[in-house]
Amino acid sequence: MKAPATAVITLSVLLVSLAGVSAAETQKADLEQGKKLFNACKGCHEIGTGARNKVGPHLDGVFGRTAGSIKGFKYSSAMKDAGKNGLIWDEKNLGEYLEKPRDFITGNRMSFRGMVKPQDRVNLLAWLASISKTAPANDPNTAQKNPIPGFTAAVLKLDGDREYGEYLSGECVTCHQVSGHADGIPSIVGIPKEYFITSLFEYKSNIRSNDVMKLRVENLTNEEVAALAAYFSSLDPK
Ligand code: HEC
Ligand code: HEC
Repeated sequence: MKAPATAVITLSVLLVSLAGVSAAETQKADLEQGKKLFNACKGCHEIGTGARNKVGPHLDGVFGRTAGSIKGFKYSSAMKDAGKNGLIWDEKNLGEYLEKPRDFITGNRMSFRGMVKPQDRVNLLAWLASISKTAPANDPNTAQKNPIPGFTAAVLKLDGDREYGEYLSGECVTCHQVSGHADGIPSIVGIPKEYFITSLFEYKSNIRSNDVMKLRVENLTNEEVAALAAYFSSLDPK
């Protein structure tokens, strides 16, 4: 996905001035570098057309988004409050947030240490902006462009039994800590039902290949998947 060259140049000029660094200290934004830097975010965030909420909200069209406003994603109250108080993601705010996430919004729950190098932030934000331009997510049609897989739709219709889910979760929490802490295993606490169900389906159907997870889900019935989804999505991440 490439933004038109002119837009990129304008953006990089803007970004250099807004990311809190003087132009003298920085080079021009390097989109290739920016794309690589997104590897630090990928485990938790999707971006691009059809991006879905994961451990973190999808970042499609994040520029101009009110903080904490993606429907169906379970934000911390700190993030929701920031949005209610008028925080809109622009280059400047994003730069400050990514530098020190914990300091910028106290109590938000993004487990990311921070990106200390100003030039890295400039590069990453320029790349995010180039992607963001081509795929605005605040577009009300996004949901339709990103259809829910049939299996997920069917399971979403079942009324998951949260208590049964809690009982079944005994099989999961040995690896996926209820506290949400990760240690290399993705956190599944508070993740949106739709994402949860779709990913289990992807293990069942070999779209995802992790053997550990395939073994765990192959014998789960739809009712059990619905119950687990009801339980895990109801938990509040710490
Ligand atoms: C370990 C998982 C994780 C990593 C890594 C991570 N994030 Fe996040 N991110 C989250 C979570 C969870 C939230 C929601 C925080 C909350 O609700 O308090 C979030 C929120 C955000 C938001 C606010 C979005 C909104 O809708 O208000 C932005 C922007 C963001 N992350 C960008 C990034 C970028 C860019 C990176 C990489 C440099 C990154 N994140 C790395 C988990 C992560
Ligand atoms: C032995 C450890 C282990 C157990 C037990 C386990 N998981 Fe996992 N789970 C993992 C690992 C490792 C991954 C990441 C696999 C990958 O990279 O695809 C994962 C991934 C997932 C994901 C996808 C998360 C994402 O961010 O995409 C979901 C959802 C999930 N597990 C749910 C469950 C449920 C529900 C159970 C119980 C029925 C369970 N897991 C039991 C280790 C485990």
